[in-house]
Amino acid sequence: MCGIIGYTGPLQAKDVLLNGLSQLEYRGYDSAGIAYFGPETDVHVVKTTGKVAQLRELCKSVREESHCGIGHTRWATHGGVTVENAHPHQAGKVTLIHNGIIENYHQLTVDFQLEGKLISQTDSEVAARVLDAIYDGDPLASIRRLIPLLEGSYGFCILFSDHPGEIYAVRNVSPLVAAYTHSGSIIASDLTALIPYTKKYAVVPENKIVRLTPYRMEFYEMDGQPARPEFLEVNWDTDAAMKNGFPHFMLKEIHEQPEALKNTILPRLSRGLPDFGEDKIPDALFARCSQIRIVACGTAMHAGMVARAVMEPLLRIPVLVSVASEFRYEDPLVSEETLTIVISQSGETIDTLAALRLAKELGSRVLSVVNVKGSTIARESDFVLYTHAGPEIAVASTKAYSVQLAALYMIACRMALVRGKMTEEEGAAFMKDLLDVIPAMEEMLRQSEEIKNIVRPLVDKPDAFFIGRNLDYAFSLEGALKLKEISYIHADAYAAGELKHGTIALIADQVPVIALATQDRVFSKMISNVREVKARGAYVILITKNGAEAAADLADVRIRIPDLHDRFTVFPIAVVLQLIAYYASLLKGLDVDQPRNLAKSVTVE
Ligand code: F6R
Repeated sequence: MCGIIGYTGPLQAKDVLLNGLSQLEYRGYDSAGIAYFGPETDVHVVKTTGKVAQLRELCKSVREESHCGIGHTRWATHGGVTVENAHPHQAGKVTLIHNGIIENYHQLTVDFQLEGKLISQTDSEVAARVLDAIYDGDPLASIRRLIPLLEGSYGFCILFSDHPGEIYAVRNVSPLVAAYTHSGSIIASDLTALIPYTKKYAVVPENKIVRLTPYRMEFYEMDGQPARPEFLEVNWDTDAAMKNGFPHFMLKEIHEQPEALKNTILPRLSRGLPDFGEDKIPDALFARCSQIRIVACGTAMHAGMVARAVMEPLLRIPVLVSVASEFRYEDPLVSEETLTIVISQSGETIDTLAALRLAKELGSRVLSVVNVKGSTIARESDFVLYTHAGPEIAVASTKAYSVQLAALYMIACRMALVRGKMTEEEGAAFMKDLLDVIPAMEEMLRQSEEIKNIVRPLVDKPDAFFIGRNLDYAFSLEGALKLKEISYIHADAYAAGELKHGTIALIADQVPVIALATQDRVFSKMISNVREVKARGAYVILITKNGAEAAADLADVRIRIPDLHDRFTVFPIAVVLQLIAYYASLLKGLDVDQPRNLAKSVTVE
């Protein structure tokens, strides 16, 4: 979680840090702080609870020039939201910022007799004090001694007050990317902070130490030998990480979906069929497995649920979906014959990463569907299918979900072709249907105003229910998550047939029910379920295909999506459900892009 940045070079460090923190704020926004070398080579810290805007206000009184510093925006893990717990933390000559969790902080507190000396309740301050205790004037050697003492995940940026102009960094699990540019050296937990300065960056390898100076960027192995990082080039620019006239990133990203889908699908089409040659994913991977395990968290896991509902009937092999944080502890049945598909926008979600490692340990080959190039999950997977959504900044995932679906549908199609479950003709028809979702999404985007009006009666309600059958149930799960995370309306999704086994007790007068009825095969059964909730007074928003016949009195409001094959209705539905959540949050006056208690990239377990 947490966003971290370090800069040393000719520019004003304060400005670079504050601007970088604004870009990184989606990673955490409980508190923020910077530390910089003053003209007397002393290190100054400014920090506050609240958002980067508050830190910016506070920094207005900073008049002195500085060309080297570090900055942090926090998502609280250890210790509440207080100024003391905000980063940077200082101990003697050491000032550091940290992303991750030091699991053995308590033991270190005992071993280094820190009891009574700690100002904050954070594990990060413990790391700062331990480093100060072992610091002997040689930053590289001291960091080398620190690393074996730490258990857990970390990305650190460190200033030593007797080494002005230099930033040291090291990481384990938690991400760090760095670049040397004509405007100095810069390091951050996320690319978005780097792209105003450069498109070429290095992924800081785990357990290597980086030294940044205004003139160079050096990487060292733990034994002190120089190390060579991998350099990558990002294919999006600063505009992609700006709002471009939209009031919120979320709305911008909802609108970017048709383009993101084109970018993900079109380069991988060869004679109308999916072709992963450029991605170096061999057909043998699809031919030889006897089961598929899909592992992911949150929205990415919901994309997996949809993929499961498409893949299993098509491929006729078991396809199981697991929440990544559970997968590790359910003693999963995984072997050399299993293909594990890992889905992650950020490529850094720690639970997903741990699940990936376990699947590999158990002999499975891992194919990941990832948005962020060079991320840890991408690098540790056997094969990667990158989604080309561009940067997703809003905490609530939107375009990442639809491109994940597109990538998974392409995998399903390729696999069906390879396994003889589809002819080339059927494959081409499948891919044509997939491309047809793009205008269907555009059509729903044009109905934004109508959807906003439909949402109005929901905003003062404490609860909402999403119901659907078959694929519609998988879509409902995502609709409910989206609504609750940004509008704080309690929302849950149910398989419509399951309602009468308990949940229908909660349906009373004017309780909102968003009913998805886009699956022809179960349409009439679904309509019966809608009647059941309507008969108990529910306020029903019914989503059907354009041509579907439904009695006028069945629903309070009806939203119609284009007539697509059942498998593909998820794409326009995703737009509708995202807009429902967006407008609910907006009409309630909430912080759409940065909802409370959340962070974009979940790098703690
Ligand atoms: C919800 C949301 C989260 C993420 C989840 C996984 O809107 O964004 O549920 O989907 O934290 O994140 P990634 O895909 O980065 O692994």
